[in-house]
Amino acid sequence: MAAADFVPVNEPLLNGNEEKYVVECIRTGWISSEGPMLRRFEEGFAARVGRKHGIAVSNGSVALDAAVAALGLGAGDEVILPAFTIISCAAAIVRAGATPVLVDCDPQTWNMTADRVEARITPRTRAIMVVHLYGLPVDMGPLLELAQRRGLRIIEDAAEMHGQTWRGRACGSFGELSTFSFYPNKHLTTGEGGMILTDDDALAERCRSLRNLCFKPEQRFVHDELGWNLRMTNLQAALGVAQLERLDEFVAIKRRMGARYNQLLAGVRGIQVQPAKTPYADNIYWVYGMVLDDDVPFDAREAMRRLAGLGVGTRPFFWAMHEQPVLRKMGLFAADRHPVSERLARRGFYVPSGMALTPAQIERSAAAVKEILA
Ligand SMILES: Cc1ncc(COP(=O)(O)O)c(C=O)c1O
Repeated sequence: MAAADFVPVNEPLLNGNEEKYVVECIRTGWISSEGPMLRRFEEGFAARVGRKHGIAVSNGSVALDAAVAALGLGAGDEVILPAFTIISCAAAIVRAGATPVLVDCDPQTWNMTADRVEARITPRTRAIMVVHLYGLPVDMGPLLELAQRRGLRIIEDAAEMHGQTWRGRACGSFGELSTFSFYPNKHLTTGEGGMILTDDDALAERCRSLRNLCFKPEQRFVHDELGWNLRMTNLQAALGVAQLERLDEFVAIKRRMGARYNQLLAGVRGIQVQPAKTPYADNIYWVYGMVLDDDVPFDAREAMRRLAGLGVGTRPFFWAMHEQPVLRKMGLFAADRHPVSERLARRGFYVPSGMALTPAQIERSAAAVKEILA
């Protein structure tokens, strides 16, 4: 098979105003973390989600670090998060000195649920880190009600939810602080990049300060606190401005991709996919994931190996937090069992899902999935 025939797992679309805006940065010399594109991107993205402040940062992981730090979460505080997520979520909590407390996810939607969260609340619980996964949001109604009733703060990780809504309300509008990633497998990309959104003036100021090494306005090199350099560059923001212009189109492209895969794989035995629709949201297919049924005699790793042999790129699902060696070595999660997350990690993977995927590539990928399951 020629390399050109390989269907890549992800390829972004950069054929709008990306080149024009990046060239503009170079011509005008605005290439660092100051510049008009950054302001445009921050304001435009915040406005799109209906938030007052946007703080652009260098990726979605550090957006979570800054969010946890900005809320002042630390030693003695428990933060509830899904077991099934990316390490960035748990890392942000652990690095702040707070305690991550895990909940399993729903086997159909692959997302955390309010009842599971409620069961893990203790007198030390301070916050819920809500993480929306794979194209469907968490069912926010019961979760918002729970957070309000129990006085808990919400950090919302909407890294994968650009353009998604819950009952018509934008994802990224639910957290006191909400975060996004603009890694190239996301609906909008800046190469690397992230954003924190909030309506709170003081929290926004705090995130801006944490992003910029906590330089003091009046005495720059005297620090009351330790921050980080989390700054996004104007060059990256230029990509973001161009991508944001096409967000609705990108969501439509991904929904068409999901619908086509669903059509091609309808009736195929051996896999479970995320619902295309729930009462509160239509899937935006961050990626097209699938989970092998228990009677399929191989696991995700073997499925991915076989698909690679057929020229189809894949990625595994996240590996659950309570099974992470680095966190177990810290003494965390010794008694945790989260069977749904454990199973998703072992039997879940996703197939080519990039914005530039062609109809022929979707057909090839679906045909390969059918072949390995035949
Ligand atoms: C749910 C979630 N949170 C956080 C991140 C981290 O974002 P980044 O890769 O930009 O650091 C990702 C990245 O894929 C993600 O999927």
